[in-house]
Parts: sequence; structure tokens; C-alpha cells
Amino acid sequence: MLVCIPKVLDASQLISVRERLDHANEGWVDGRVTAGYQGAPVKFNQQIDERSEVAHACQQIVVSALERHPMFISAVLPNTIYPPMFNRYGEGMKFGAHVDGSLRLHPRNGSKLRTDVSATLFLTNPQEYDGGELLIDDTFGRHSIKLEAGDMVVYPATSLHQVSPITRGTRTSCFFWVQSLIRDDNQRSLLYQMDTAIQRLNQTDADEVARRTLIGCYHNLIREWSDT
Ligand code: NI
Repeated sequence: MLVCIPKVLDASQLISVRERLDHANEGWVDGRVTAGYQGAPVKFNQQIDERSEVAHACQQIVVSALERHPMFISAVLPNTIYPPMFNRYGEGMKFGAHVDGSLRLHPRNGSKLRTDVSATLFLTNPQEYDGGELLIDDTFGRHSIKLEAGDMVVYPATSLHQVSPITRGTRTSCFFWVQSLIRDDNQRSLLYQMDTAIQRLNQTDADEVARRTLIGCYHNLIREWSDT
């Protein structure tokens, strides 16, 4: 399931993150430092050293926004969020087709995280650059994603994806992975649809017994399917 989540960051959070990143200078390093054997040959971008102060400050802003975003919680059902990373692509840079690694080591405590969901939070508006689409392949074909600054796409980490070459300007974004409470994408998708329907019912004067039963089913399915 691919979901676009609008307004993960508000205008002031966006400015705060962008100012830190735009002034990071030597904090930007070759993106291949964190690429695995599959990604390294096709990865041509820069990213912020994930242990730097700039990274920590921006991570805090993003993670606290994620934790308060109902659509993110509903669509992803996060167990563990990998500390968000930040990258940028200048003219001529790109990231060829790859599948993200299945396991990551948490940079601070060394614990293993299974990457169930991949996320890209756009930090640059589409009119600031040409090219740079995030192309995601699934069984319905190819999706070309280029969102407003502050908006985010989440998609199954099993997907083949790439970033097309930048032909003008610079594309800055935040990316990370989530280990979900619900490992299976189909189950996660069903729960998201069910929760969305329940939220809509909550806005109506729907039959209370039916509504309560549905909410019970939603929680009991999570109990049935969740990893922890
Ligand atoms: Ni990737």
C-alpha cells in the first residue's frame, strides 16, 4: 500500500529543518556511506552524517511530528521508527533502481530493525527542481511521486524504487524506515481502510452498537496480527 500523507511538517517546522540542513556545509557527506552492496553502485547523492548534531536536531522535529500525525499512525502502525536521515540531490545526481535493505542496525543502540515501510518526506517544493521523481514499482505499475514540501509518501519496503536524475535545482528530503506492528502489507492495508472508515463513522450519528463492534474488531485484529 502506497499512501501520501499531507502536511507532516507545518510551515515553521519545515523552515526550522531546512535552515539547519541548508547551513550544514561540511555535514553533507557522500550518500554511499550508508548504502549496502546493492545500493552503493547506483547511489549518487549526498546525505547528512546521521550522528551529527544537525541530524539529531532535525530528527527530533520530524519524529515528534510523526508521533502526533494520526494518518501516519493509522497507515503505518509503527513499532520502531529508524532515526530519520536527510539527503539531497543536486543536478545530475540520482539513485538507480534498488530495494532497501531488509534489516538496519539502530545507529544509537545497535538493535536490529526490520524495514517494513519506507518513507520519504519531501523538504523541497516541486517547482524548485526538475527531475528527481521518486519512482516506485508495484503490481499496479509504476508510481511517480513528487510532493509538496512537508508532505510524505510511505510504501512497502519490499518495493523496487529509484530517484530519477535531477536536471535543475536541488532536491532535499528526509527518508527513513519503520518496523511496523503489522509485518504484512495486506493486513496493514486492511487495518488502515478499516480505521479510516471508523473515523468517518465517528463523524456521523452512526448506530452506536455497530460502531463499537467495528472498533472492537479493529483492535482485536491488531491483537491477532501484531508482532508484539
Ligand atoms: Ni531506497
